[in-house]
Amino acid sequence: MAAGRRVLRWALAAAAALAATLALDNGLARTPPMGWLHWERFLCRTDCATDPHRCVSEQLFVEMTDVMAAEGWREAGYEYVCIDDCWMAPRRDGEGRLQADPKRFPSGIRRLADYVHSKGLKLGIYSDVGNKTCAGFPGSYDHYELDAQTFASWGVDLLKFDGCNSGSLELLAEGYRRMSLALNKTGRSIVYSCEWPFYLRPAQQPNYTEIKQYCNHWRNFFDVYDSWRSIKSILDWTVLHQDSIVKIAGPGGWNDPDMLVIGNFGLSWDQSVTQMAMWAIMAAPLFMSNDLRHISPEAKWLLQNKEVIAINQDPLGKQGYQITKDKNFELWERPLSGRAYAVAVLNHQEIGGPQNFTFSLTFLGNGLACNPACSIRQVLPASRDWGVYSWVSPLSVEVNPTGTVLLKVAVL
Ligand code: GLA
Repeated sequence: MAAGRRVLRWALAAAAALAATLALDNGLARTPPMGWLHWERFLCRTDCATDPHRCVSEQLFVEMTDVMAAEGWREAGYEYVCIDDCWMAPRRDGEGRLQADPKRFPSGIRRLADYVHSKGLKLGIYSDVGNKTCAGFPGSYDHYELDAQTFASWGVDLLKFDGCNSGSLELLAEGYRRMSLALNKTGRSIVYSCEWPFYLRPAQQPNYTEIKQYCNHWRNFFDVYDSWRSIKSILDWTVLHQDSIVKIAGPGGWNDPDMLVIGNFGLSWDQSVTQMAMWAIMAAPLFMSNDLRHISPEAKWLLQNKEVIAINQDPLGKQGYQITKDKNFELWERPLSGRAYAVAVLNHQEIGGPQNFTFSLTFLGNGLACNPACSIRQVLPASRDWGVYSWVSPLSVEVNPTGTVLLKVAVL
């Protein structure tokens, strides 16, 4: 009996280990993809006559490509220049192929991809599993193979595949699977970004093991807005579901809490630090949605910060999680390669000044992160060495209201 249970336990553990290693096998997204995506900042502005600098047009993507190549974004790791909804003409062409709006994209997507590639960057595009996109443009339903081939023939490197208007849950799942297979069949390396679990969730619990076999990253929750309230809601949702979503993330497949909105209008400096720190802890894809042509030096410094990007891109590929919440503070950690940990302390109190949070280093890494001692370096809001601590030392961290202190803890 006991032996039988042992065998069963072993078999379950082996199955879990196998599931954890089965990611979409396209060799991509071994670390969370990074780039720029137009949606949050530019939405579906199509009137280029009145708003030539902000409409969804080839000019917008060319200008963003130029800035990304010229101002250190590419070197920092932001690689994909991504088009979201509203790029298409209202109808397919005579052969049933999707086509870009001819007024707003006069050179076509193929030429745009060539241009983006000539600057050492990659191009992302958008479509939808249903017969219409969320904004009402033509969707890919019934055209999965043709659209995948069209995108590949244009030289596209990433597809964001939305889930509006899918018809039914069966068609939603079927469409996400079929597009994944169709992309693979093209032979071109195309990162596959899904919203499958987000659209499934209201009706049923997503099967993440399956989703990871088809997608390189997937949205779970509502669209990010340019506000602290939105960032908080994404973090709260993630904590509530961390037991089911954290373990599934890893090289090849990531949970996507949506775009970085740093550099826009809605977040204070401390809230921007919180988004950057927490997106690194969560091993999130880093797609900025802002106007890189007009961005403050502070936002640029934060978004290009090498140490925080290194945490986000850590090769171990484990997503972090909340360890504890104490009144106004949240304590999070993320296991990193080399037995190190990233640790974040977030202060939710929106009254008064900076507050101290004191905790025992034995909390970290199941007691192993600082055992018998560790060196601690502060990464955000500014980089600073804190020196060596022993296992039994308490750590007191001062955090601004709605801000986060991000640390890197290396065991000695
Ligand atoms: C949905 C997605 C967004 C964006 C819009 C475009 O809301 O979640 O990220 O792509 O559609 O219409």
